[in-house]
Amino acid sequence: MTEQASRKVEMEKIVSLCRRRGFIFPSSEIYGGLSSCWDYGPLGVELKQNIKQAWWRAVVQERDDIVGLDASILMHPQTWAASGHLEGFADPLVECKNCHLRWRSDDLKGNNCPSCGGELTEPRLFNLMFKTFMGPIEEEASVVYLRPETAQGMFVNFQNVVNTTRKRLPFGIAQIGKAFRNEITTGNFIFRSREFEQMEIEFFVKSGTDEEWFNYWLEERLNWYVKLGIKKENLRLREHTKGELAHYARVCYDIDYLFPMGWAELEGIANRGDFDLVQHASFSGKSLDYFDEETKEHIIPYIIEPSAGVDRSALAFLCDAYDEELAEGEIRVILHLHPALAPIKAAVLPLSRREKLVAVAKQIYADLRQWWMVSYDDAQSIGRRYRRQDEIGTPFCVTVDFQSLEDEQATIRERDTMNQIRVPINELKTTLEAKLSGERFDTQPLWTAKG
Ligand code: GAP
Repeated sequence: MTEQASRKVEMEKIVSLCRRRGFIFPSSEIYGGLSSCWDYGPLGVELKQNIKQAWWRAVVQERDDIVGLDASILMHPQTWAASGHLEGFADPLVECKNCHLRWRSDDLKGNNCPSCGGELTEPRLFNLMFKTFMGPIEEEASVVYLRPETAQGMFVNFQNVVNTTRKRLPFGIAQIGKAFRNEITTGNFIFRSREFEQMEIEFFVKSGTDEEWFNYWLEERLNWYVKLGIKKENLRLREHTKGELAHYARVCYDIDYLFPMGWAELEGIANRGDFDLVQHASFSGKSLDYFDEETKEHIIPYIIEPSAGVDRSALAFLCDAYDEELAEGEIRVILHLHPALAPIKAAVLPLSRREKLVAVAKQIYADLRQWWMVSYDDAQSIGRRYRRQDEIGTPFCVTVDFQSLEDEQATIRERDTMNQIRVPINELKTTLEAKLSGERFDTQPLWTAKG
């Protein structure tokens, strides 16, 4: 089997796991679904939340040169004239004269309609922005757009942030939020959807230092994925060719991930030069320059933009974590998710439903829930319950058995190695805390029973 063919099977498995265990459902499924829109279920919403939190922590919380922002999705329509989206954010489409289906002309292999073989029109540009109306009257003057990227909210707030935070160059603004694109080519599950979330940084620097900062961000962002568990061999950097470069970009690299369908963009990192601030200053008539205290000059900063997708990151983390192994004659499905990303950090499992055991297990559950997302499961055999937690990536299971009633200890079982250690119940929280933040599990294993 070729590499691509063998990985394609995996995508089907990912889709099936996500559906079966409540990570991701088709949007409005009871009405037959809405094309390329997805709903994140109880586990999916935790995974997405954890990805966003890990990103925010790395780029805002742990740095003193980036601040956060949450701009509105609807922006003044002039924003999109200034940004170039009204004119340039378009795909060339052809329409079949027979069945009237539309196709991206750059995706077509032949000269005829791939669906019915009919004759095609000449390509026409089709804008990818969703249009709607603000206020009660549906007229041209009240047209607004759902933002196709979060970036513009940060450019138009540049002066607000400088004035209120007194940040000096180099500094950045970071934002996480929804973006909408009326994509023509969709598919590959959540890889390309019409409503998605972005995590973007606009990093403002002095011109002349832009190349250095660009390289810095390439490395920083690649390392973020690796630290959260993505295998290095599944990541690569790819430079955009001149023909591919967006109208605003001087240089752009994609961080590609080896998805089941092949290498594809996970994140884009662009050197946008002074394009955005110059454009918005010109369209708004407001100054967006910056006073450089060192040279006593007014300058327009350059912008380095690392722009990541939450949904694509979720897909990459799921694909990279997915594994199957043979355990006691059965296939064990495991998500080796990094503990920071795992939707559930620990599951509390009483060995039986006997009243005395349940009371202890429920108390442990109540205690641990104060700190993390923890689940409680007492249905079916302990082996099955372990498998259910392995499949959703829960790093630790806490098992309460009859011995626990006597020695006030419980067993912690680790997902990847299936090793187990015995811990006093009143030390469960501190032990799990240490293990979740990376302490080795096998320091003092009592036994290594596979289970
Ligand atoms: N501000 C720059 C910008 O938006 P982009 O390369 O068009 O650049 C950045 O998008 C990231 O947003 C992509 O790398 C991808 O992760 C995510 N993204 C873009 N379009 C998407 C879509 N239709 N569905 C899911 N994610 C998407």
